Amino acid sequence: MRLSRYFLPVLKETPSEAQIVSHRYMLRAGMIKQASAGIYSWLPLGFKVLRKIENIVHEEQARAGHIAIQMPTMQSADLWRESGRYDAYGQEMLRMKDRHDRDMLFTPTAEELVTDIFRSHVGSYKDLPLTLYQIQWKFRDEIRPRFGVMRGREFYMKDGYNFDLTKEDALHAYNRHLVSYLRTYERMGLQAIPMRADSGPIGGDNTHEFLVLADTGESEVFYDAQITDLTFGSREIDYDSHAECQAVLEEFTSRYARTDETHDEALFNEVPEERRRTARGIEVGQIFYFGTKYSEAMGATVADSDGNRVPVHMGSHGIGVSRLVGAIIEASHDDKGIIWPEGVTPFHCGIVNLKQGDEEADGACEALYASLTALGLEPLYDDRNERAGAKFAGMDLIGLPWRITVGPRGLKNGVVELTSRRTGTSEELPPEQAIERIAQIYGRAAV
Ligand SMILES: Nc1ncnc2c1ncn2[C@@H]1O[C@H](COP(=O)(O)OP(=O)(O)O)[C@@H](O)[C@H]1O
Ligand SMILES: [Mg+2]
Repeated sequence: MRLSRYFLPVLKETPSEAQIVSHRYMLRAGMIKQASAGIYSWLPLGFKVLRKIENIVHEEQARAGHIAIQMPTMQSADLWRESGRYDAYGQEMLRMKDRHDRDMLFTPTAEELVTDIFRSHVGSYKDLPLTLYQIQWKFRDEIRPRFGVMRGREFYMKDGYNFDLTKEDALHAYNRHLVSYLRTYERMGLQAIPMRADSGPIGGDNTHEFLVLADTGESEVFYDAQITDLTFGSREIDYDSHAECQAVLEEFTSRYARTDETHDEALFNEVPEERRRTARGIEVGQIFYFGTKYSEAMGATVADSDGNRVPVHMGSHGIGVSRLVGAIIEASHDDKGIIWPEGVTPFHCGIVNLKQGDEEADGACEALYASLTALGLEPLYDDRNERAGAKFAGMDLIGLPWRITVGPRGLKNGVVELTSRRTGTSEELPPEQAIERIAQIYGRAAV
């Protein structure tokens, strides 16, 4: 992409309504535009990041054997009456009537819809296990939408639902989700810590929230410092192996890590004092085993091996896809702007031409652009007639992890400059080597 042809409506002033850094930078970098309270349009740069995150989620769900579907955003109230949730859900549900005076709602979550699909098409234990998921817009009429995309009213969410014959199988599905979520967040450059969450009226302790530590997080969290040393990394895992997935669950959840909702002071005090941490966190996902709550209410049964109809064991598992854009910025920025992790960056690198119109500089930039593009990479070439300082400030704000700077002086010595956004360090090297380096970086990053 050439910046002269792109649509990147960068703001000079910091918008006064933005209270946290991710919201400020998303507005300033032209990523989003508020349409109304808690509802946003995604402008090109923001939309590219959203898509990158979405793709990672899809890839990791596929790896875990989960199957993508797409359900509607508009639902009829009938299914929610069947499950008993229509009256229980409260004011967060946006309700409306169609022209025939039928009660409709904008989907806040989809347990009822997916259970209806299941009961219509699945009748035997032989068809299990099954996990269906979607990535779809949700609407919750939050009383206090704030912090931009972090707490919106309309937001993009991955919601997955497992169907299993037994509780044991459903707990394996739970563990599979935990593993796939660890991988998902790490590919986005995030550490998201599974913390024991509150299961609400359903009860039981089979729910974890994934929290990214950040001062601006809405949840207060309490944890054993040892937990931040854990990474899933590039290890191989057999998602069908109950033992392997259970071992990962135990590894990542055996140390104390809870949000304020489940915090237990006495248990916390058993952690050696020097390892006790209190901080704030952003919830970027949640996994939940809830048993037969919906399958019983809605008649989602299968025949077991003896031919008896039994209600299936279910769970639901969510990732806040649009919230993640903000959470990644909260976790990765400096006072100049965003610093995208390679896994989600909207463009792989920037090219800054220090002397637009200079034949040699223009030619070298075009050649870099063509070579990077041929490698399947997407550079953003700042080809505008702007001062170098303005070009650098713009690149720093939008946060591309790598920048290649091209100017007549360097070209005389056969070099360009490769700069890391994260460390700020620069290196002079011939253009071909700069290309090679960028290719290598993304070759490694593209797991
Ligand atoms: N209002 C919102 N705006 C943006 N993302 C949200 C919002 N509500 C929930 N999410 C994201 O969707 C994920 C799954 O939703 P869920 O656990 O049902 O939400 P909650 O715990 O807020 O009720 C959450 O972990 C969070 O990342
Ligand atoms: Mg939650």
